[in-house]
Amino acid sequence: MTTGPLPMASGSPPAAPIADPRVPVVIRPRPDRSVVDAMPTTGPLIDRFGRIHRDLRISVTDRCNLRCVHCLPEEGVTFLPRSEILGFDEIVRAAAVARRLGITSVRITGGEPLVRQGVPDLVGRLAALGFDDLSLTTNGSELARLAPSLAAAGLHRVNVSCDSLSPERFARIRRRGQLAPVLASMDAAEAAGLDPVKVNVVPIVGVNDDEVESFAEFARSTGRPVRFIEFMPLDADGAWRRDLVVPADEIVARIHARWPLEAMPASGLDASQPAERYRFVDGNGEIGVIASVTRPFCGTCDRLRVTADGSLRNCLFAHDELSVRKVLREGGTEDDLALMIRRAIWAKLPGHGINDPTFLRPERSMSMIGG
Ligand code: 5AD
Ligand code: SF4
Repeated sequence: MTTGPLPMASGSPPAAPIADPRVPVVIRPRPDRSVVDAMPTTGPLIDRFGRIHRDLRISVTDRCNLRCVHCLPEEGVTFLPRSEILGFDEIVRAAAVARRLGITSVRITGGEPLVRQGVPDLVGRLAALGFDDLSLTTNGSELARLAPSLAAAGLHRVNVSCDSLSPERFARIRRRGQLAPVLASMDAAEAAGLDPVKVNVVPIVGVNDDEVESFAEFARSTGRPVRFIEFMPLDADGAWRRDLVVPADEIVARIHARWPLEAMPASGLDASQPAERYRFVDGNGEIGVIASVTRPFCGTCDRLRVTADGSLRNCLFAHDELSVRKVLREGGTEDDLALMIRRAIWAKLPGHGINDPTFLRPERSMSMIGG
């Protein structure tokens, strides 16, 4: 199957938030909705639409030990040569500059980050930079073994991907790997003090969409927040179609019909989080939906990504990247790095345009970008 032309939808364009008045830049609204005229070289990481960036996702490898259907092809994956992957010293240098520029939250991603040797050491070095929030997304296969050292190194919390609670189906979706060790890894993570342990689920029509209620029950019985992520056109197989997406509204309505939910107001650290959170009215836990396709949240996006090979991506769906690796390896200074990060933010578009008829999926798939 190929993606083919995408159907049109009436997604409303993201609103440009009002720029932070503390930022020393000229604010002059223009018809193209750019609100800031010139790239600031001081102050927080602001883009042309007034969005201030505080969240950095660092992919430490494009490799993965699994081949999930919504991410990688079953066979024939080529991974980046080792020499092109940022070393830990390089990552820490870039992260320190990002910290100076106002990044307060870091998530370590992959591929599968824990297939890379020494991630707890990297966590320790990132923790020493003093981020308010330090988290990691993992498929759970190596987590039980590494949770104690990750927590001891200063990791705060983890998101564990788990797309089915049926062992047979889980194995079919991942094409490799089993359910039981992943469930055990969630227990191990909690025992090590990683808090919260969230569970990422990508519901896909005809694959696992009948498990929405089971995952809600799982959230209730374990107290682990389950995050339902809409299937995005980032699968390497190119099988994504809009009619395979289970809309966030449907997920919430189905769960609400069984166990009444109430929306949780976004506050503080959560204000720019893509997840719309709901708690069970009876007090038994919470779920969240990430409506990347049906309700894009670009208007409040505060994220920047560094891929494993050191490219700065200002959006999951970006087509342009800036190579921080080049700066790092060609003798660039901290100021050169800072300028490149600012330029990446400044180049950010108002939205990913996933609902536009002209939308083109990026060349890289999820494992290459880093969720
Ligand atoms: N759409 C939505 N989510 C995806 N993930 C991987 N591929 C896709 C996709 N095409 C999820 C992973 C993981 C998170 C980082 O992104 O399952 O939980
Ligand atoms: Fe690996 Fe995560 Fe992609 Fe699955 S979704 S193949 S675990 S990178």
